[in-house]
Amino acid sequence: MSRRAGPPDLEAADWLLAGAMSDRTERRRLVELMRVLTTRPEPPPDAESLFPRWTELSAGVAEACRGDDPEALEEAFLELYAHLHMHEAPYTADERRRVDASGGYWAHAGGLSPILRSGRFLHPASRSVDLGAGNGLQGLLLQRLSPHARCCQIEISSRMVEIGRALQRWLAIPDDRVEWRTEDVLTTALGGWDFVYLYRPVRPEGIGRRFYERLSEALAAEPGAVVVFSIADCLEEFLPPVFERLSSDGHLTCYRKAPRPG
Ligand SMILES: C[S@@+](CC[C@H](N)C(=O)[O-])C[C@H]1O[C@@H](n2cnc3c(N)ncnc32)[C@H](O)[C@@H]1O
Repeated sequence: MSRRAGPPDLEAADWLLAGAMSDRTERRRLVELMRVLTTRPEPPPDAESLFPRWTELSAGVAEACRGDDPEALEEAFLELYAHLHMHEAPYTADERRRVDASGGYWAHAGGLSPILRSGRFLHPASRSVDLGAGNGLQGLLLQRLSPHARCCQIEISSRMVEIGRALQRWLAIPDDRVEWRTEDVLTTALGGWDFVYLYRPVRPEGIGRRFYERLSEALAAEPGAVVVFSIADCLEEFLPPVFERLSSDGHLTCYRKAPRPG
């Protein structure tokens, strides 16, 4: 495939995707995500060693915008997103020992659907969290698409948090909009959020069970409304009946708790 330089034609992308995506809000958010990730004035931080395919994959998105295949455009953009997300978290020996002990999941990407579908649940006062955030790309993109009070990023890999801070600067997200915590979800303080995102940071077995129990107790105790977006969900058996399941497509499961009366 030949690679022509230049930013993607996002009007063409919107038009192309209109035939494939019936939900207009999600389509708009996808095009906005494309704009956010493909029109930065600089390449991502430390691109040569961390994101060596950045230029090639960005050009692939621009080229797909000139084509006539919406699936090819979605694929090209997914590749770019996955490259930025990274799929391997570097751990220190101690971090790796703790991840192994709790059967922690590596840095697989939660995908675009949580970002595209979260728009109606995030508002300017929202406090969101990603539990097991990797380099924090999901939370950073939530902040870019739905600016809100604070996004908390909890991740055991100190190197991933360092990369995430650099990505935050690259995406021009103000410092006070993101709280980074290099912590273990098994022991970190839980609560104070109204939008919770997680992709199974630990297995719901052995010592990992306590994390899901503590999280469910903390969220049930929140006085306000809480929405949970859970990838590869294992929370259902832990959540008390105050939570209703809003939807599940086998990848993303969404729950909501109404505010407590009074
Ligand atoms: C499946 S990835 C999800 C990444 C990102 N949240 C997403 O959805 O795209 C799980 C992440 O949890 C982190 N993790 C694993 N065990 C953890 C623990 N005990 N405490 C905090 N983070 C952990 C991993 O390093 C990895 O980055």
